[in-house]
Amino acid sequence: MAKSTRRRQVEAAALAPVDWLEERSGLVGGIKYFLFRHVPHDVNWMQTLGSAALTAFIVQAVTGVVLAMYYKPDPQNAYESIQYITHDVTLGWLVRGMHKWGASVFIILMFLHMGRVFLFGAYKYPRELNWIVGSLLLVLGMLEGFTGYLLPWDQTAYWATAVGINLNATAPFLGPFIADFLQGGAQIGPDTISRFYSMHMLLIPGAIIGLITLHLYLVVRLGVTSPPWSGTAAGRKRAEVVAQGREGLIREVPATESEPGH
Ligand code: HEM
Repeated sequence: MAKSTRRRQVEAAALAPVDWLEERSGLVGGIKYFLFRHVPHDVNWMQTLGSAALTAFIVQAVTGVVLAMYYKPDPQNAYESIQYITHDVTLGWLVRGMHKWGASVFIILMFLHMGRVFLFGAYKYPRELNWIVGSLLLVLGMLEGFTGYLLPWDQTAYWATAVGINLNATAPFLGPFIADFLQGGAQIGPDTISRFYSMHMLLIPGAIIGLITLHLYLVVRLGVTSPPWSGTAAGRKRAEVVAQGREGLIREVPATESEPGH
């Protein structure tokens, strides 16, 4: 059925800003490419664990921003400010609860996602770099948990952090320096809180966001792996990602050339 003039006018009005943006940035094409790219036909629920980890991270970021509006990072006020968030701020208990439990959810999901990648053999060529980026994300995720644990400034927080810092201090050579850096003084005190807070809400999340961007770029570039029981080959054809590097180092050398004596 032919479109009415009215409908055509509405469509043109709706598309005008999209076309404007596309012409100046190419963003719309980029988003289309991302959303409509090919994935193997037999991907399954286990391959949603990465996106689940991403969702958990976003929840942490959003609830963290709300908590930072009320939290006071110094020994005199930290504990009180947490009590205030929990008992007085509207829905503060919910936001704090989501952030606290969400931290464990995030880490558990990262481990489950990593397990899936391992069991599917998805860490193999050409995805080794993405496995390395993922491993860094795992370490940073756990550091996020460690630095956040001190912030409520109650007995559990204080002593758990004391144990964590002392453990680091026992590492060979660098141990005492790491412990000194984390503590920011002779003992856990005001400088430790502000240090942990700065790492917890600026340094580590910033690094995590950068690495997640790289991680997802690599997922899109390399394509998603099919399950190991799949009859069809992995997402994208290998030829498209064959490295340009030196033969034998990162490119396969044909068997005859690599044999000794040839
Ligand atoms: C902040 C944490 C992480 C986020 C948000 C994240 C996100 C994702 C997403 C959305 C995908 C594509 C879909 C999927 O396979 O689930 C993916 C794939 C992948 N991830 Fe992660 N990931 C994280 C941590 C990790 C860790 C800890 C590892 C391993 C050490 C890892 C290694 C990989 C690899 C190798 C792929 C490619 C898998 C394939 O092509 O099938 N990731 N990640």
